[in-house]
Amino acid sequence: MHTPLVIRNVLAVETSCDETGIALVEQTGTAEAPRFVVHRNALVSQIAAHREFGGVVPSIAKREHIRALPLLLDEVTGGDPAFWERVDAIAVTVCPGLEPALWTGITFAQELAERHGKPLLGTHHMQGHLYSTLLELEPGAKAPSETLTFPAIALIVSGGHTMLLEMESLHSWKKLGETRDDAVGEAYDKVARLLDLPYPGGPEIQKLAESGDPRAIALPRPMAHEKNYDFSFSGLKTAVLYHLRDNPGANRADVAASFQEAAISVLETKLFRAADECGAASVLLAGGVAANSALRSRLARGSAERSLAFAMPPMPYNTDNAAMIGAAAHMALLRGADPLPLEARGRVPM
Ligand code: KG4
Ligand code: ZN
Repeated sequence: MHTPLVIRNVLAVETSCDETGIALVEQTGTAEAPRFVVHRNALVSQIAAHREFGGVVPSIAKREHIRALPLLLDEVTGGDPAFWERVDAIAVTVCPGLEPALWTGITFAQELAERHGKPLLGTHHMQGHLYSTLLELEPGAKAPSETLTFPAIALIVSGGHTMLLEMESLHSWKKLGETRDDAVGEAYDKVARLLDLPYPGGPEIQKLAESGDPRAIALPRPMAHEKNYDFSFSGLKTAVLYHLRDNPGANRADVAASFQEAAISVLETKLFRAADECGAASVLLAGGVAANSALRSRLARGSAERSLAFAMPPMPYNTDNAAMIGAAAHMALLRGADPLPLEARGRVPM
């Protein structure tokens, strides 16, 4: 197997949690101002299979990935043997995530790489979220990478992670802080369960909050005013639990809106404090919770008020998908990073 000198088109596979994705992502431009065009983006959500359990069940995730991958591949290739001539490399998420789920993607990608003689690139899921901010919807538009200047602060908010990064450049970062207990997406999911809303809770709470009063209930803003950049969301969830226990007739929309306000205000406070203290010129927002319209507009407004450039993924690329894995694989190649081992690992720092 030879590695082509220039890798333009990467076929990416994502199976770390409860979304199965295969995408074809092209990179042009330079290492400092790359452009990414998503030519194919096939995605199947397993939400229906997990819903009755109120969360993701690893063995069901594995079964559903195994079922979905060949169908998605057919969708992406269109059954055209010439498709493979366009593909320069294959990328697959190897960490972090549910190990049985990750292995299905790794095994599938290994077979493809062997059959079609392509290099295989182990890729980090959270780097995928980070670089989802660089994906483009319209090929002719200005590339997101051209609007960002550094240093930048990145806030990544997903179902498993909540972290702040300081980025010296598009290719180097340092972790400033992360959650000490629940991730913010996990808090959304748990509060949704308390409100009898289905999994995943993020979009449900967002919808319910639209008809509620965010100032109705005084909820804590954990760690908002501590000097560090860590987060904690489990106390906020517990405060909601106690409020519902003590107020059986509570207005659910007010609870949803007040919870969302508390969560967003902690994220906003810490993000902009980090931006001030690091002298940041830009802010990036990514991860499944970045699909939240209230969070998007608050951070966009806060960035504009401080004259910071602001980047977030186009709507379809916030929650898990394979296009972002393609972008992360390209970025690792552009910065000459060592490839990640082709084995599933549940927790690996960025
Ligand atoms: O990034 P992601 O798809 O998977 C992980 O890597 O964890 O994030 C999933 C998380 C879930 O907790 C889900 O409830 C949350 O993102 N989420 C949202 C919204 N859409 C998804 N949270 C708040 N508002 C949303 N609109
Ligand atoms: Zn994710």
